[in-house]
Amino acid sequence: MDKIRVVGGIPLSGRVEISGAKNAALPAMVASLLTADTVNLENIPYVRDVLTTRSLLQDMGAEAEVREDGTATLKAGEVQSCEAPYELVKTMRAAILVLGPLVARFKKARVSLPGGCAIGARPVNLHIMGLERMGAKCDIVHGYVEASTSGLHGAYILLETVTVTGTENLMMAAALAEGETVLDNAACEPEVSDLAALLRGMGAHIEGDGTRTIRIHGVKKLHGCRYRIIPDRIEAGTFAIAAAITRGDVEVCDCNPRHLTAVLTQLSQTGAKVTIGPDSFHVQGRDPITSKNVTTYPYPAFPTDMQAQYMALMTQGDGSAVITETIFENRFMHALELIRMGADITIDGRQALVRGGQPLTGARVLASDLRASASLVLAGLVANGETWIDRVYHLDRGYHKIEEKMARLGANIERVH
Ligand code: EPZ
Repeated sequence: MDKIRVVGGIPLSGRVEISGAKNAALPAMVASLLTADTVNLENIPYVRDVLTTRSLLQDMGAEAEVREDGTATLKAGEVQSCEAPYELVKTMRAAILVLGPLVARFKKARVSLPGGCAIGARPVNLHIMGLERMGAKCDIVHGYVEASTSGLHGAYILLETVTVTGTENLMMAAALAEGETVLDNAACEPEVSDLAALLRGMGAHIEGDGTRTIRIHGVKKLHGCRYRIIPDRIEAGTFAIAAAITRGDVEVCDCNPRHLTAVLTQLSQTGAKVTIGPDSFHVQGRDPITSKNVTTYPYPAFPTDMQAQYMALMTQGDGSAVITETIFENRFMHALELIRMGADITIDGRQALVRGGQPLTGARVLASDLRASASLVLAGLVANGETWIDRVYHLDRGYHKIEEKMARLGANIERVH
């Protein structure tokens, strides 16, 4: 199994190009199930979750091609099986996103329940509740959601918790439902708006995406289109922290800084110099790094997917910082590995107290999930000596060759097979 080896102590400098957003690519690929026509996508990151989604679509009988140049061609003309098997769903929870499109277009679906994961229980009750309000019959049988309908209809759906893939699943289902659907307390992450824009390109009638209330007027049929997905704000944020923690000087390009306002504002408050352009931003790390509390909330607030990376930065702060995680109940696994590198962190439920100013030392560490593995790479960039990160398959789920991008910025980092 691959490992990543990092030797710390080098300030990063130069330019880095950001790939397309993993969390926009997955729903965009799944949306191709809503039409028999061809959907051409661009800026698709060549990461493991994208390849898993390709296999999921192919297993159903759809044509699905993904290329390293960022293009993908998808055509769900013939779908033999409306099923997402456990073997696949257990490796990628986002596979639940096929539920809405399959029920909407093929009037049935059998999708394995994702079950819990390293960062939390992550139920999908709201996805199911929303489909039932649109007239689907959903049963949980042998660990699968078995859903069927004679035809979905519009409904008013209040989501008690803001859910990103829940909003996306129901928006896709409602696009082919009879009548109007209102999704209230909807997620307004940029990836949700990106999916809405793609669906409009396919002929859907959607308004209000990017706000807490989305209105969808169902249509009988959707058609194919060509669409370029948004850049990955979390990858961009990860490189912003890499520049700050190494006291480096990095220009992060091909991204949308407006999707990162909360992150870049927080970073400026820790003392880094952040200069924002139309599709890039520049981070110059500074000493000292000011310790600053942060709390994760749904977009547009500070994202939970940047919490682990921010914790790595706070281990180098000049005081103490309290990090509060409000989205997932178990998203501090990385703290235990950072402590093994010499960090001073105390966990109390959904709060972590990070006492800064402790020099980190290189160690063998274990990645537990995608963003946790990114925080270990960041810690390795400032630790004395070598850090070996195990289970980097977590990293490959959402970052395209991150070690090569960091090496081009001067980092002493490599993948060891
Ligand atoms: C999406 O996951 C992202 N994944 C996650 O990114 C991200 O952490 C998360 O949104 C929050 O921003 C993708 O887009 C593929 P949620 P999702 O439903 O949609 C509760 C990464 O690192 N909830 O918004 O699964 C849930 O338990 C990944 O790239 C219910 O209670 O997250 C959580 O506490 C990790 N019932 C909260 O809502 C439901 O039916 C938010 O979860 C659905 C969710």
